[in-house]
Amino acid sequence: MSDKILSSIFEFLKDYKDPENNNSFNRKNSNIQVVEKNGNVNVILSVTKQHLDKYEKLTSIFKEGLSKLDGVLSVNVALTSENQTSTSEKNESRFQIDATDIIAIASGKGGVGKSTFAVNLAVAMSQLGKKVGILDADIYGPSVPRMMGISGRPEASQNKKLIPLESYGIKCMSIGFLVSVDTPTIWRGPMVMKALEQMFNGVEWGQLDYLIIDLPPGTGDAQLTLAQSSKLSGSIIVSTPQDVALNDARKGINMFKRVDVPVIGLVENMSYFICDNCDEKHYIFSHEGAKKEAEKFQIPFLGSLPIDKELRIQSDEGRPACIDKPEGDIAKKYLEIAKSIF
Ligand SMILES: Nc1ncnc2c1ncn2[C@@H]1O[C@H](COP(=O)(O)OP(=O)(O)OP(=O)(O)O)[C@@H](O)[C@H]1O
Ligand SMILES: [Mg+2]
Repeated sequence: MSDKILSSIFEFLKDYKDPENNNSFNRKNSNIQVVEKNGNVNVILSVTKQHLDKYEKLTSIFKEGLSKLDGVLSVNVALTSENQTSTSEKNESRFQIDATDIIAIASGKGGVGKSTFAVNLAVAMSQLGKKVGILDADIYGPSVPRMMGISGRPEASQNKKLIPLESYGIKCMSIGFLVSVDTPTIWRGPMVMKALEQMFNGVEWGQLDYLIIDLPPGTGDAQLTLAQSSKLSGSIIVSTPQDVALNDARKGINMFKRVDVPVIGLVENMSYFICDNCDEKHYIFSHEGAKKEAEKFQIPFLGSLPIDKELRIQSDEGRPACIDKPEGDIAKKYLEIAKSIF
């Protein structure tokens, strides 16, 4: 398959939105598949019955538009409703948010820096002009209130939905706004799912460009259900470079693959330490472990972030690095990663 032709095909397709979920038809959208061989293009669209007329209109637009591209000899667009009866499709409609892209930040292992990454990625995206929300899906250990420097109780809107709290221009929702952070959340599975569902459907998110979901660590039921139920555009896996973390990251990658959620990429956190005295990079855990892992899995490597004392303090004090020191090297790294995702 020619990468050049495929890129120009998606360049054309990305300007059109899926009538079902309003997501753009880009490479991350699992409702569209494009196969190109020797200039012959096959486009397969997963469709739903209620929007059939819109899909039929798109079929002729795609046929006409794609036929004009350089190197394209023939175009076939097929509509399939295969997914509709599957359980994953049933789950998909459970959680609904009007966001162009929903991205989950995940890791296999706990404490590798997911929440720090989620918060700074959201801020970086917002600084790049996007409308962003963060959903803290860590019911047992919510970190977003502290890291975004907000507390308080969300108020209810006229139609009895919760109004997210805003910090640094980002809409935030977390169980931490509803229960005291010092109270252990002793909830069983169904209650956790109910709470998560409330954070999607019971919140006035409004229209967003990106919703960032900060997932709890691991690959358990909550992560799996969220991955299946929330129409994720993709996931980003955060890992530290050492083997124990990468083993768990691998489980995360496989979980998303199993439920057909594209892995946007792998980020290596706490990659190295720059010593105050010698200004040299010290690779404490191992060198480029996550980068090699990304290559092995053929997923993009999005970048590496150092261990940085200031970053830890900024997180604890509710001033994300991208806000506190927007000119700093770390903020620039988050901006670069955000840009690579658009
Ligand atoms: N690059 C970094 N340099 C220094 N400290 C960091 C870095 N990334 C994260 N931390 C700190 O490490 C701790 C854990 O980070 P964080 O809460 O983001 O991890 P997590 O993966 O979300 O954890 P959990 O699995 O518990 O949700 C925090 O105190 C955070 O400030
Ligand atoms: Mg966390």
